[in-house]
Parts: sequence; C-alpha cells; structure tokens
Amino acid sequence: MNPAHRVPVASRVYTPAPGEASDVEHMPAGDVTDGVVRVGGTIRRPHQPQSLAVGEYLDWLDDAGFAGSPRFLGRDAQGRDVLTFVPGQCSGAFPEAWVQSGDLLVSVGRLVRRLHTASAGFVPEAHPFPPRPVQPNPTDAAGLICHLDITPQNVVVRDGLAAGLVDFDLAGPATALHDSLNTAMHWVPLRDPADAWPGWEDQDPFHRLRIFADAYGWTEDERRRVPGAGIEAAALSYERMRHNAAALGGGWARMWQDGVGGLINRRRAWLEANAGPLVAALTR
Ligand SMILES: Nc1ncnc2c1ncn2[C@@H]1O[C@H](COP(=O)(O)OP(=O)(O)O)[C@@H](O)[C@H]1O
Ligand SMILES: [Mg+2]
Repeated sequence: MNPAHRVPVASRVYTPAPGEASDVEHMPAGDVTDGVVRVGGTIRRPHQPQSLAVGEYLDWLDDAGFAGSPRFLGRDAQGRDVLTFVPGQCSGAFPEAWVQSGDLLVSVGRLVRRLHTASAGFVPEAHPFPPRPVQPNPTDAAGLICHLDITPQNVVVRDGLAAGLVDFDLAGPATALHDSLNTAMHWVPLRDPADAWPGWEDQDPFHRLRIFADAYGWTEDERRRVPGAGIEAAALSYERMRHNAAALGGGWARMWQDGVGGLINRRRAWLEANAGPLVAALTR
C-alpha cells in the first residue's frame, strides 16, 4: 500500500467488510499469548504494549517488499489487534518430523536474510519499542530492528519451505548476528543432546548449523564469533526468562516452572564444550 494513504497505526480501526466470515478458529497455543484466534482472513491477538511499534515495523516491511509478514489492519471492536492471516503451516511446540527437512532449514536461513535486508533503514519514530527489562540485546551502529523469536512455531511453511513469519512480539533492536544465531538456536537446534525433541535424537547439529550458516550467509568473522555470541545470548536469555516469569507470570511463569532455565544453562554448557568443533564445522 502507498504509505501516504495509510492511517497511522495508533488510530487504525478494523471494520469488517459486509458479509465477511466471522467464524472463530482457535490457533495452536504458543508459549505466551493467550487468546490468539483466526477470524476469516484475519488473526486477532490481545493488544500489547509493543503492538504499535510492531504495527509500524510491519508497515515498513510491507513497503520494503518483504513478502511473508502479516500486515497490521488496526484494532477491532473488542480492542484486539487485527493482523492478516498468513496461509500455511506452523510447527507445534515439539517440532514434528517434517520440520527436520534440510530444504526447509535452507529456506529459513534465506528468509531471515531477506528480513534483515528489508529491515535495514527502519527507525521507529512515533512508537519506539518498549525498553527491555533486563540487559538489552547487543546492538550496533546499524540500529537494526529484528524479529528475535524465529522459532518453528513462528515460521509459516508452504510447500515445505519457509514462506512467512508471525508473532513479532519480541521484535526490537539487535544485531543481525544475534537474530540469525537465535534463529539457528531454535532451528538446528543448538541444545544439549539430552534435551533433544522427541524424534530429533539423530540430527547432527554441526551439519545443520553449517547448512543454516551458508543459507543465511554468515561471514567468516561471524562464523568464528558464533560460540561466544551463543554463550552470551544464553546468559541473557536466562536472565530475561527469570525476570519475565517473576514480573509477567502467565506463559513465562509456566515455561520457568517447566524448567526452561535448566535447559538454557545446559545449552550454554554445551556451546562452551563444543566451541572448537562448532567453528570447525562452520569454517572448513
Ligand atoms: N498472522 C498469522 N498468520 C497465520 N498464523 C498465525 C498468525 N499469527 C499467529 N498464527 C498462528 O497462531 C500461533 C500462536 O500465535 P502467536 O502469535 O505465535 O502467539 P504466541 O505469542 O503465544 O507464540 C502461531 O504459532 C501460528 O500457528
Ligand atoms: Mg509464537
């Protein structure tokens, strides 16, 4: 859409067209947001403190020609955020066997690269992203806004390939390496083998990380920084989860009670123990 014709996100109101489908379909529960539903061609989500910042970011991505993110259509009569439904399939909480596809992993790396290219130049103005409650993500002079939660549950897959991204709730300033490594952490995945998802025990994390690295296009320097950046990210993630569990409760508290803190610490230890082999797999 031509940006000049856009209503500012803060005053954007969604009015259904006459005769528009109104049947409500409950979406598979993610970890955090209660009450995500599909109504016709739209998704309705509870309004969040970051919703307007996200709405402006989604406008920017749309203008930049990034195909695959929802558009923010405004708020409905109940005050919920209304976003376009991105057609396709998302993984469940324990990624199914089809999520192991190497072609899918390649397409995720390429999608994240396209997201970062499209995001370059976006500067939140009217609605800055709310400050992070704990130690902020690493940022650099590029001031890149990133998704920061590109899990299998938040990637929309069509014909076996990553076609879209949803759930921009954690979006904010970071570095491209932080966001892409976070994506690899979820998709390879990078975790202690003792914590492998059911059916994923035989996957080779070194091989899968290399596939992701080549698809996203990490430089030689970034490849060498992966273990250190991953260890740093694990420490940050532990503090953030602990803080959010105590301060926000809900899904954050559930994840904490389910032992996510231990999982993150085991990931960190695994990265420390495998730093050399990881760099070797990325650079040979
Ligand atoms: N715009 C969208 N288009 C298609 N599916 C969506 C969209 N937004 C959410 N979903 C689906 O609903 C699920 C839960 O929504 P999400 O926004 O990820 O909530 P949570 O914060 O709980 O993870 C997603 O994993 C996805 O399957
Ligand atoms: Mg989600």
